[in-house]
Amino acid sequence: SIEYSLRPETLSQYIGQEKIKENLSIFIQAAKLRDEALDHVLLYGPPGLGKTTLATIIANEMGVQFRTTSGPAIEKAGDLAAILTSLEPGDVLFIDEIHRLPRSVEEVLYPAMEDFCLDIVLGQGSSARSVRLDLPPFTLVGATTRAGLLTAPLRDRFGVLSRLDFYETKDLRNIVERTADIFHIGIEYDAATEVARRSRGTPRIANRLLKRVRDIAQVNGETTITMETTKKALKMLQVDEQGLDHIDHKLLLGIMDQFKGGPVGLDTISATIGEESQTIEDVYEPFLLQIGFIQRTPRGRVVTSNAYYHFNREVPKIE
Ligand code: ADE
Repeated sequence: SIEYSLRPETLSQYIGQEKIKENLSIFIQAAKLRDEALDHVLLYGPPGLGKTTLATIIANEMGVQFRTTSGPAIEKAGDLAAILTSLEPGDVLFIDEIHRLPRSVEEVLYPAMEDFCLDIVLGQGSSARSVRLDLPPFTLVGATTRAGLLTAPLRDRFGVLSRLDFYETKDLRNIVERTADIFHIGIEYDAATEVARRSRGTPRIANRLLKRVRDIAQVNGETTITMETTKKALKMLQVDEQGLDHIDHKLLLGIMDQFKGGPVGLDTISATIGEESQTIEDVYEPFLLQIGFIQRTPRGRVVTSNAYYHFNREVPKIE
């Protein structure tokens, strides 16, 4: 699909996250020199920043197979055992949303990660005995939104922990320009900057916005995306000057209008605006925290004066 071909395939094609790339590049080179599997890698950070992409790049750079699954997809210990026993030496096993693995499955993963073996219990009751099965050495790449969602024993078994941060505008502009190239369409520098600026620091959003801007440019018979078309498209998409969408607006205005700017608990916000608590916490809050529009306090979330200014509203006086 188009989505897939947009993904960079090597570390050198991957834009941004410089520190992570620099570190991974060394660890990959060293593992290859020793002819070993790369140590297990935990990638964490908000959705859309490139965790899956990095996992595929790791497999590609190591020259091994990429096998992919997710925490919620593995229901039983046997499901994981089936995957682990089918791996070839050095393979990358990617587990997305790894914090959602059932506990019984997680326990199978500990000896697999640490000693490349499976402990299998045969029989029941007093005749039950355990046999060890050797596994090929492999690299587990786990992805999660927050490292703190993992149990300590699982987190401790990763040798490399990398946190992905929101991208700077210049990196997002480069990503937008690269994607436009892949689409065989031109884009003015200012237009690429504008898409980048309004993408909430997130490549997935930048590429999604670019697709919609491209639709409008093409319908208008333009072969180069202009600033004018970009602004028109972003307005149609209800993306504001800061890149906030209507759910961000609902969240911020909800706290302002119904809770006098907070503090208000996450579950109360969730019930008020009709979005899942988990989605608010994983998808919407991280960027609003980053740009300083909300703050977390022990008593709940508060909207900051910056957010009031953004909506041209008067900051309420503290009573
Ligand atoms: N497409 C999406 N994310 C990217 C990145 N970080 N580098 C290059 N292309 C991308």
